[in-house]
Amino acid sequence: MNLYESLAVKIEERIRGGSLAIGERLPSIRNLGRQENASPATVVGAYELLKSRGLIEARERSGFYVASFAAPALSEAKAAPGFVRPASLDPEDLILSLRQAMHNPHIFPFGTAAPMPDFFPIKALNRCFSQVLRDEPATVSEYRFPPGAESLRQQLRKRFSGMGVRLAANDIVTTSGAIDAIGLALSAVARPGDVVAVETPTYFGILQLVRALGYKILEIPLDTELGLTPQRFQQALQKSAGKIKALITVANFCNPLGSLMSDANKRQLVQLAEDSGTTIIEDDIYGDLAFDGTRPKPLKAFDSQDTVILCGSFAKTISPALRVGFACSRKFAPAILAQRAARVSGVSALAEEALALYLDSGHYERHLRKIRSAYHTLTAQYTHAILSHFPAGTRVSRPQGGFVLWVELPGKPDARLLQTKALEKNISVAPGPLFSSNHGEYGSFIRINCAIPWTTQAQKAVEKLGGVIARL
Ligand SMILES: Cc1ncc(COP(=O)(O)O)c(C=O)c1O
Repeated sequence: MNLYESLAVKIEERIRGGSLAIGERLPSIRNLGRQENASPATVVGAYELLKSRGLIEARERSGFYVASFAAPALSEAKAAPGFVRPASLDPEDLILSLRQAMHNPHIFPFGTAAPMPDFFPIKALNRCFSQVLRDEPATVSEYRFPPGAESLRQQLRKRFSGMGVRLAANDIVTTSGAIDAIGLALSAVARPGDVVAVETPTYFGILQLVRALGYKILEIPLDTELGLTPQRFQQALQKSAGKIKALITVANFCNPLGSLMSDANKRQLVQLAEDSGTTIIEDDIYGDLAFDGTRPKPLKAFDSQDTVILCGSFAKTISPALRVGFACSRKFAPAILAQRAARVSGVSALAEEALALYLDSGHYERHLRKIRSAYHTLTAQYTHAILSHFPAGTRVSRPQGGFVLWVELPGKPDARLLQTKALEKNISVAPGPLFSSNHGEYGSFIRINCAIPWTTQAQKAVEKLGGVIARL
């Protein structure tokens, strides 16, 4: 055995024995060389070998970390697309009760998909808001109407151009967040009763929106690692006799799976949509949160015929309280603008100008590097804790970005009952049935928020939740 191979074996034993935990940073090449009396080349060889075996992973400008290799893969979802009868929108709706729990500061927030304040650039935002108020005081007395602040739309144009998306500032309409953008886009392309395809499992806010707007809902099951595949979209087209008016997709790190569509699949999906006359409404809200630091392209980068309306917001990266998002498409901008102008008596000039200043400051990329790495480590730490404290047989998603985990519980417990029992212990979880329109699927799944600092309190919350599950 070579020197680097025996060093790799030694490190592997520490990983498997648990003295190096999932998500933990490995010593730098120089430090490990010093500790082990080995040359840098030997350490690099050992790390490369462990990397090729999937035991450790390299992170952008940050070094090597123990990979979440131990997480068993989720079982495969049902594969066939199908129409669903949506659950009614009554006040007892599961979504409302989950959201009410978000407002209680005594409840440990595993159930939300919102990072804790620790992960937002509060100081920099403070500076930007102060600067707008100081330099442009007239902003506070202003009604500003859609399409929104020119400064912000220019910043967005510049950002998207770096991702291969060609847009003019006039192709962009600012919105009150991503869900507002998707709602406007839907109203611009489809009428109530039209077929709208959605992914499953997917974020319940999207499902709530399509339910409320009265579309015929066709759910397309996601592949747990690849996301929406062109094959499944093709099956969905057949199922609907080619009549899908709009497809809503979160191609980059969807909520709750964290899967990522490949560039080849993105290209093929856009082509299929173009050929079938389907408009894709893309929600790119998690695109900036790739664990490996490589910003994946939006579907819109593969779109030459304006088949895609690119939507999103900065709710997951800068602050949900800004309530600023965007919808982008040359062809549909006038219709979206008309919808928006009819619904609001102005956009938040203050928030939009401050956000434009922040994006212009260059701080955003630094901030993203920090939170991407934090979310990568945290998802690995929570995965490890869940697998240690939840009943044997628990399976966990392997997200490639974002900050949530999709957890499959063994023995088919009722996730809704779990939600109630966990709330009695002051812990919220998002029960799986929320992630399908009829609330009839994913009965033994829960979604866990990992954008919560890894503290003793967090560890205790995982243990306590594991106890609640075991008792169900
Ligand atoms: C996929 C997805 N889209 C949209 C949203 C909400 O975005 P916004 O607050 O900008 O409306 C969320 C929040 O959880 C989400 O997960």
